[in-house]
Amino acid sequence: MYYTKEMMASVARVEALREKNLHREQKRMDADEINQLLRDFHPDGLRFGMDTITVGPNRGEIAPKELVRLLHAKGRVPREKIDLSHADFITDVLIIGGGGAGAAAAIEASRLGAKVLLVTKLRLGDSNTIMAEGGIQAADKEGDSPILHYLDVMGGGHFCNDPQLVRKLVMEGPEAIAWLCDMGVMFDKEADGTMATTHGGGTSCQRMHSAADYTGAEIMHSLRDEVLFHDIAIEEFTAAIEILKDAKGRAAGAILMDIETEVCKVAQAKTVILATGGSGRLHFQGFPTSNHYGATADGLVIAYRAGVSLVFQDTMQYHPTGVLFPEQLYGALVTEKVRSLGANILNAEGEPFVNPLETRDVVTAAIIRECKERGKGVCTRLGSGVWLDFPMIEKKRGAGAIEKYLPAMFRMFRKNKVDIRQVPVLVYPTLHYQNGGLKIDTNCATEVENLYAAGETTGGIHGRNRLMGNSLLDMIVYGRCAGQEAARKSKKVDFLPLTLDHLFNYERSLEDTGTLERDIVSPMLLPDYRFGRSGVSESEK
Ligand code: FUM
Repeated sequence: MYYTKEMMASVARVEALREKNLHREQKRMDADEINQLLRDFHPDGLRFGMDTITVGPNRGEIAPKELVRLLHAKGRVPREKIDLSHADFITDVLIIGGGGAGAAAAIEASRLGAKVLLVTKLRLGDSNTIMAEGGIQAADKEGDSPILHYLDVMGGGHFCNDPQLVRKLVMEGPEAIAWLCDMGVMFDKEADGTMATTHGGGTSCQRMHSAADYTGAEIMHSLRDEVLFHDIAIEEFTAAIEILKDAKGRAAGAILMDIETEVCKVAQAKTVILATGGSGRLHFQGFPTSNHYGATADGLVIAYRAGVSLVFQDTMQYHPTGVLFPEQLYGALVTEKVRSLGANILNAEGEPFVNPLETRDVVTAAIIRECKERGKGVCTRLGSGVWLDFPMIEKKRGAGAIEKYLPAMFRMFRKNKVDIRQVPVLVYPTLHYQNGGLKIDTNCATEVENLYAAGETTGGIHGRNRLMGNSLLDMIVYGRCAGQEAARKSKKVDFLPLTLDHLFNYERSLEDTGTLERDIVSPMLLPDYRFGRSGVSESEK
């Protein structure tokens, strides 16, 4: 154990109050308190973190500065070297992204008889999906219903979610769980064989299905096995750097780039699915992130240039409990399941200041207020944070509960010399999820014909705040749907000559408005940490 003397003094205060806190129910906030708190302390409310988009479908709207910069950059395509009259790959369905949504889409498209090519800039499975810890929601137990699930999703998203997208999400939830079980996913069960489920923040029923605290890994491993079992072509370490269109303005493939050699190739496809994930590696407002290395908003950038609108692009999810200390785990996720199991959130005095199962945006804003305004955080070299009191779990659920329910978390901290059975852990919000993204309809179709999208790269399902466990559900429900729709549509599409005119026109608009970012190209593909955490070099700032 190497907490500092000051930290240990604060831990002593937490310990002294633990018995009292065990019997103390932290009251929930009312709507007015919540609105005020979010306005004043949630990072989305800080307009200095935003810029205005100057071209394209969302012209005049705001988005995080780091994203706007990428939207205003030139494409990566080496124009003089690309011959669009020759295709290196020809397929029915091109899937861009090898996480959960891409894999689910590939399985379904292949099952419907389509020829599928899946490209991923890292390896199949490298994604936010495989890192997901806490669980997947679905209303498949007695006493629950998709209607209750619907109300929770809408409430969590501040009632601005797209109702039709939410409807499909919750109605197909039980089937998604059954599909995963058929594929071999081992969810936790009670002694009688029924699903073991817990609450998440903002849920009215216990509908969080999990595989201990490595639910995403359990799901992604099964999806990956299933993809490998099908006749699906896979190109790893291959990034899609631009969407190709045909003479009718329909999506018709992509320019692919080998990320080691930077050699580009042309993939021609009848339909294209974007399943490129999120944008946590853009480190909006300097936050650390729980996201995987490839979460750099690539899908948003290339689809936007092709003409797809963004929705809720100004709202991000900052997960309340990212690790603050030990420093080598900075930003890593501490699953919400820790709070579902009974851990509370405490300030430096050991006092609770927010109900741990408020929705994420509320808990995040409360932590920021406690540290920044009230000065009641615990200081570290990386800033101040608050305690997540793990030992409370064993007080509530008995000895052995932490190793039983949180084996991955237990090992992660033990490797870093912290025994979470004995001491609380310092946490602070970490950039976790992109609430918004590409506009889709309930068939995963974007505004560009033959271009589909699924998973975190899309927006609308979660409104302005996603509840825990709904992203794993979203990527299964909508990943499968995208695969089916793209496969069906591919049967009706003929090949026409390819073009990149949309890119050239887009770049010309940036020139005309004087807003072209001349010193970078996009999509980013991978963050560059040589120059600090933002992934943007000092000379570029
Ligand atoms: O806290 C968590 O386990 C995260 C889950 C999610 O983002 O859905």
